[in-house]
Amino acid sequence: MTPVAPHISVLGREAVEMLDPRDGGIYVDATFGAGGYSRLILAVPGTRVIGIDRDRSAITGGFDLVDRADGRLTLVEDRFSNLADICAAQGLNAVDGVVMDIGVSSMQLDQAARGFSFRLSGPLDMRMGHAGPTAADVIATASERDLADIIYLFGEERHSRGVARAIVAARKEAPITTTQALADIVARVVRSKPNEIHPATRTFQALRIFVNEELDELQRALTAAEHVLKPGGRLAVVSFHSLEDRIVKNFLAERGKVSSGSRHLPEVAQLAPSFKILTKRPLTPSEDEIAANPRARSAKLRAAERTEASAHAESAPPSWPTLERVMRGG
Ligand SMILES: C[S@@+](CC[C@H](N)C(=O)[O-])C[C@H]1O[C@@H](n2cnc3c(N)ncnc32)[C@H](O)[C@@H]1O
Repeated sequence: MTPVAPHISVLGREAVEMLDPRDGGIYVDATFGAGGYSRLILAVPGTRVIGIDRDRSAITGGFDLVDRADGRLTLVEDRFSNLADICAAQGLNAVDGVVMDIGVSSMQLDQAARGFSFRLSGPLDMRMGHAGPTAADVIATASERDLADIIYLFGEERHSRGVARAIVAARKEAPITTTQALADIVARVVRSKPNEIHPATRTFQALRIFVNEELDELQRALTAAEHVLKPGGRLAVVSFHSLEDRIVKNFLAERGKVSSGSRHLPEVAQLAPSFKILTKRPLTPSEDEIAANPRARSAKLRAAERTEASAHAESAPPSWPTLERVMRGG
């Protein structure tokens, strides 16, 4: 197997500065990855970090750091949407900071066997964790209409209907089980000029987001962070595309103002803002960081500080197709 280069943290210094880690503080690094953010937090003496990742190889890759951290780093293999339960299992009902660096790591993207990349030939998997349906399962099972919706909503692909039609026609001939097979099918429908992104980019992004339920995970994790952060605790989120950034931006905008209560619970009194926004505009990487690491190009950092106010009512359930429904064929 070709060796995979370690993940280079994006906006790590800025995200950790937003957390403002202090001696005695407890911080959740919800996307441990290669441990870049955790290392920066642990560099502040007396801090403790709970690192979460749904990818077992990220967790095992962090064991060295656990050994060197003198009991200050605990790693948990789980989804970050469970972060409140994860903290409770560690005996913590409140923490001083939560940081998230959403998306895939370069270790995941660069390993052909993980099936994330249309540039590398591998099985059509795309799962960050090890449970649940693979991208090949989705491609084999979803209706043409669901495939078109998934590719349009999560990939913002204008030709989503044509791509879905081509997938359904191709799967009647033979199962689509490799990244290469899917990339070829998409490239026959979506044309791109030599200096444009690869025609399969948007379809692969859509499937990856859908298979890993990335938007649901983010939405639930933000709400969980609102519940576990102490007053004065900080939340910092780095995202890589507009779909994620919109969720973070809307969540913070909603929590940053007085809530008139839930539509469903009209008797609930108005709630004061549960977060004070620290980044009026998102922070973006410097030109130097982008030159050194082109994957940083689209990153955005938003941060906020938890107030004394109670957590607001949960946001409405998602309007996008869910993995459970699509795989059930409902
Ligand atoms: C961009 S990398 C994080 C890199 C890390 N900040 C660093 O500096 O090394 C994102 C990591 O988050 C993990 N991840 C993504 N979504 C997750 C989720 N819902 N629950 C837990 N881990 C998740 C991925 O498996 C991946 O390892």
